[in-house]
Amino acid sequence: MVVSEVPKLSFAAEYFFKMGVEGKRFRSTVLLLMSTALNITVPEPPTELQELQEALSTDLRARQQRIAEITEMFHVASLLHDDVLDDADTRRGVGSVNREMGNKLAVLAGDFLLSRACVALASLRSTEVVLLMSRVVEHLVTGETMQMTTTSDQRFSMEYYMQKTYYKTASLISNSCKSVAVLAGHQSEVVALAYDYGKNLGLAFQLIDDVLDFTGTSASLGKASLSDIRHGIVTAPMLFAMEEFPQLRTVVEQGLDNNPANIELALNYLGRSRGIHKTRELATKHANLAAAAIKSLPKSEDENVRKSRTALIDLTQVVITGTKKRDAPS
Ligand code: FPP
Ligand code: MG
Repeated sequence: MVVSEVPKLSFAAEYFFKMGVEGKRFRSTVLLLMSTALNITVPEPPTELQELQEALSTDLRARQQRIAEITEMFHVASLLHDDVLDDADTRRGVGSVNREMGNKLAVLAGDFLLSRACVALASLRSTEVVLLMSRVVEHLVTGETMQMTTTSDQRFSMEYYMQKTYYKTASLISNSCKSVAVLAGHQSEVVALAYDYGKNLGLAFQLIDDVLDFTGTSASLGKASLSDIRHGIVTAPMLFAMEEFPQLRTVVEQGLDNNPANIELALNYLGRSRGIHKTRELATKHANLAAAAIKSLPKSEDENVRKSRTALIDLTQVVITGTKKRDAPS
């Protein structure tokens, strides 16, 4: 799906789909589990309809799988562009495409992936899904631009940060979860629950990612830690810390890039504050909301449906703790 007639373009577009650098495939996993979790079958269809039902459900699965592929292509396209904007040297522990092949090819490879994803999207022949997934691209661009063009007040606003986080991270997973439900022809209540799961999981994921930027190591992230704050990007841990230590805002405003003394000072304030703790708490709140959305789905006795729902609930814990909660509901 990502092979072009131009070898260099193929190489750049395929770069993050290769073994070892394909990432965690977190989004695709969620979407395939969601597809099964929403597989609420009609009990005992009449014999003459059984074959038709099987054919329809195989077709549905293939179409939902396509949403997972499109989502992965959107995601990788956005990373290729993001690394150009951030002038990043590494991604997933290897040289970034912009570093290996230059900015121009990285941008074009992102465009190419987007265009291939659009073709795949059109092939689903669902106007509603095309609308949902197209809005995601708009949101990714909006979120990135919001982050890049903040006024001073926006930069230190939690509300602005959460809105940007929705656009940059949660819109993709929430709208693709919604698309999976729409393709299955679900009622608006079920569609809304699929969306709520994706949105809250996405927000929890990003909040923890923002904590890891302070507490993680380069090796575990595959990228330099403290990268947000060094680039002047103020995330939840710092925003919460500023509520306790308003003087931290002045330190951040003075700039932290190439200013080790200010970095030290900012980290000192953060360490003395409850910023990290409060961010984890907020992430937990969103993870629990995601789990609650799955628990509100119409009951099903189907073993695969139940297993997929349990896995989706487990994932909400994996996102916030890195492990499955021992007493996770079955
Ligand atoms: C990672 O940000 C980047 C994103 C989540 C989205 C970036 C979106 C664009 C560049 C707009 C263009 C979009 C498309 C679809 C072509 P980060 O820098 O915070 O995270 P990182 O540490 O992984 O780089
Ligand atoms: Mg980046």
